[in-house]
Amino acid sequence: MRTVELGTAHITQKGIDYVHEVLASGRITYGSFSQRFETLFARMHSSRFAVLSNSGTSSLQVALHALKILKGWKDGDKILVPSTTFVASVNVILQNGLVPRFVDVDPQHYDLQAKLIESAITKRTRGIMVVHLFGQPADMSKILPIARRHKLSIIEDSCETMFAKHKGRVVGSWGDVACFSMYTAHLVTTGVGGVATTNNHKLALLMKSLCNHGRDSVYLSIDDDADTSAQSFSFVLKNRFKFRHIGYSYRVTELEAALGLSQLETYADIIVPRQRNAAYLTKRLHNLEPFFQLPSHREGSEHVYMVYPLVIRDARIKRDDLLLFLEKRGIETRYLLPLINQPVYRFLKINPKDYPVSTNLNHHGFYIGCHQKLSKQDLDYVITAFNDYIRQQKLS
Ligand SMILES: Cc1ncc(COP(=O)(O)O)c(C=O)c1O
Repeated sequence: MRTVELGTAHITQKGIDYVHEVLASGRITYGSFSQRFETLFARMHSSRFAVLSNSGTSSLQVALHALKILKGWKDGDKILVPSTTFVASVNVILQNGLVPRFVDVDPQHYDLQAKLIESAITKRTRGIMVVHLFGQPADMSKILPIARRHKLSIIEDSCETMFAKHKGRVVGSWGDVACFSMYTAHLVTTGVGGVATTNNHKLALLMKSLCNHGRDSVYLSIDDDADTSAQSFSFVLKNRFKFRHIGYSYRVTELEAALGLSQLETYADIIVPRQRNAAYLTKRLHNLEPFFQLPSHREGSEHVYMVYPLVIRDARIKRDDLLLFLEKRGIETRYLLPLINQPVYRFLKINPKDYPVSTNLNHHGFYIGCHQKLSKQDLDYVITAFNDYIRQQKLS
């Protein structure tokens, strides 16, 4: 049976060669590949600094921790977060002693609804966690002025979106800090891996330190004491085993960096086919629009389609029944990121009626893959499956 998976890994000969180079060098901790990755990633996201970590969640966690230290936030301060996103966006807020305040999402694009932000702000609100979901930038040109007006920090959870621009400005360059994931089935996939971008030098150093057990930033890589002739050598020696913060062990290796670098250097081979596949699906599923809401582009935004989201419109279609039908045909599916109804957040006493869009998505939303390895035959197979389902259920 044909299988249509949600994601794929972009392993090219270049990636294999880079990984071999790392193995042959014997140097697997932070080194030249990590540095090249960070430099290129920062440049591609119009940022001065990029800091690697071992996951998108780790990057988000240290980003919030570092902001809390630098801005003097207190336990119990609030961060606005969309009511539809992956659980990690909320977990890192709680793990940092902060409180998530949910804001309902946009019914077309499933990201933070800008017009609901202001009424959610209180005296204790310190920041907005904006999530660029599924490959499309959030409504940043509306969100940024609100954040500025209320002196709120912006944390971009861009774990699902790289390279995409909104009004000509790329994700990762809008907020105080932005975090990206390189986990399996994302865009750049290194197995595990995360990266944070910022223009703030202090924030970059602090995030790097927190990823390295909170070590003094004089010694964050084994090369930092390599130059014994430097005047500052004795200073490095005195400080290289000092720990300034309660940090984490969130480092990544040269192997992930090598794989990641090869993908950054060929990023168009990842996103252009995804955009083409999504456009094909949208064109050929057009006849089913009375039954499903298909993804659409926000005006002025690019979409790089980490996945292809759909929402059931026709009440006669039962989501689990449809997903079972698709899965039995080898078409992988996932629910569209249910969040506020997760058992883990029961203690937050969330009223689903306060978030009507997310509540609808929790019952009717799902996504399928549209990645670069899918062929036209795979896409036609998906389109046929959707049409067969509608016909078999005698819905049309
Ligand atoms: C929106 C969002 N935030 C955070 C994460 C966490 O990334 P990671 O799995 O690399 O920790 C993900 C991962 O899927 C995500 O989709």
